[in-house]
Amino acid sequence: MIDPIILQQGSDWRAQAEVFDEIFFVFLALGTLVGTIVVAYTLWNVFKYRDDGSEPKEDFDAPIVGELPTGQGGPKAKKLFLSFGLSAIVVISLVVYAYGLLLYVEEGPDTSDAGNIEITVEGYQFGWEYIYPNGYSTRGEMIVPADQRIDLNVTSRDVWHNFGSSELRIKSDAIPGEYSSTWFSVSSEDVEAQGGEATYRVECFELCGAGHSAMTGQITVLPQDEWEEWYAGTQGENTSSVDSAGAGNASSVDNAVIRGAPA
Ligand code: CUA
Repeated sequence: MIDPIILQQGSDWRAQAEVFDEIFFVFLALGTLVGTIVVAYTLWNVFKYRDDGSEPKEDFDAPIVGELPTGQGGPKAKKLFLSFGLSAIVVISLVVYAYGLLLYVEEGPDTSDAGNIEITVEGYQFGWEYIYPNGYSTRGEMIVPADQRIDLNVTSRDVWHNFGSSELRIKSDAIPGEYSSTWFSVSSEDVEAQGGEATYRVECFELCGAGHSAMTGQITVLPQDEWEEWYAGTQGENTSSVDSAGAGNASSVDNAVIRGAPA
């Protein structure tokens, strides 16, 4: 039931931002439509059944608390069941639809053929450190390629933080000793639209101390070839555990942090 939704998009993956925007739009549109119908119908009935004094008081069929206005299977009952039925259909369809899309957001697109890039995000008071697969790391700015699924493993060095980018619609807890994961993907069209280099603001979304509001960063998305060039250039400063173990260095992330920190 869920796969067809994704397959309809062809080979293009959908970014979380697109999915959330779509859910938001569908709920907004349906909410507006249903709201307009309900309010209009209510007002119309208020007008139609207003007390203009013409109805004799003894014939007045007042509603009774605790009793459904069945009208003995008459038009009132039909309206009641129609209203319940329509509401149920709308609600159930929305639940199924939204849940299907959220499952996709949780799992992410299948990129077994393209290969994902896994980046560790480490929060600290007050900033973000990004550690790439080769052990190289940057502070403040995460540099990633377009058209590729980026997997983030988010953690913290000290207190609770929350890593997020509103524009990309991603948000993930950064908790010491724990890793929470999320993913994102930016298309090359979006990168081109931003002039060959797309940037997205990163913020901390968990009150974590005096510098919380300044705990910002940036995600920079480069075209694939430019990114590969940049990434190849980081190899020399590689401090991954594999290389450093051979060189007799401490194979710690802290080592990578110090040597990999940009000027
Ligand atoms: Cu880190 Cu707020």
